[in-house]
Amino acid sequence: MSETPILILGGTGKTGRRVAHQLADRGRSAKIVSRSGGQRFDWQDESTWAPAVDGVESAYLVDSQGGDAAQLLAEFARLAARKGVKRLVLLSARMWEQSEGESMFAAERAVQDSGAGWTVLRPTWFAQNFSEEAFLSDAVIGGEVVLPAWSGLEPFVDAEDIAAVAVAALTEDGHDGRHLRALRAEADVFR
Ligand SMILES: NC(=O)c1ccc[n+]([C@@H]2O[C@H](COP(=O)([O-])OP(=O)(O)OC[C@H]3O[C@@H](n4cnc5c(N)ncnc54)[C@H](OP(=O)(O)O)[C@@H]3O)[C@@H](O)[C@H]2O)c1
Repeated sequence: MSETPILILGGTGKTGRRVAHQLADRGRSAKIVSRSGGQRFDWQDESTWAPAVDGVESAYLVDSQGGDAAQLLAEFARLAARKGVKRLVLLSARMWEQSEGESMFAAERAVQDSGAGWTVLRPTWFAQNFSEEAFLSDAVIGGEVVLPAWSGLEPFVDAEDIAAVAVAALTEDGHDGRHLRALRAEADVFR
């Protein structure tokens, strides 16, 4: 891959900003885009999409988290492939699979069908959900975190480890066409 900037959607978020920092540590520049930081990018404003992919060959994708996320992702990924982006790394989530192994995530399919190379990350819950203004942080501040875990063990993965895997997928060969799962919280165990 060349030394062109790497596009980071959600570049102000929990994983995106860590991906940008870790790329910088490797001497690679990141093109951070979001509604509030870096270059303006809004999933709801298609006029911001083409400028985002302009001049990049690899992109880290964080979806819009809305009901139309998969559709928007499909359109964006196709545009990116048409504009010459060769490698897409999608932040997905721990996988819920049907018994025959068929993916239920339309967002993943959207990226896999774009025409560009792809890698899908399937982490478990982030450790940062307990902090960083995430959905469990109020419960932590309130002194009680209640989850329907029963006696099950729930692994949490550090967003730094997710970013490390993303950076590898964005910058190294050998990860195309792979789904990478986080299996344990205490180590960067993706496979
Ligand atoms: N939290 C977990 O435990 C967990 C586990 C597995 C997977 N995930 C997945 O992780 C993803 C979220 O990633 P994250 O936690 O790194 O991000 P995040 O901290 O939730 O931040 C969201 C990012 O997306 C940007 N954004 C939000 N709405 C946008 C819009 N309409 N247009 C453009 N950018 C927008 C935000 O920036 P602006 O506000 O500046 O636009 C921000 O940079 C979700 O898809 C979620 O399913 C989360």
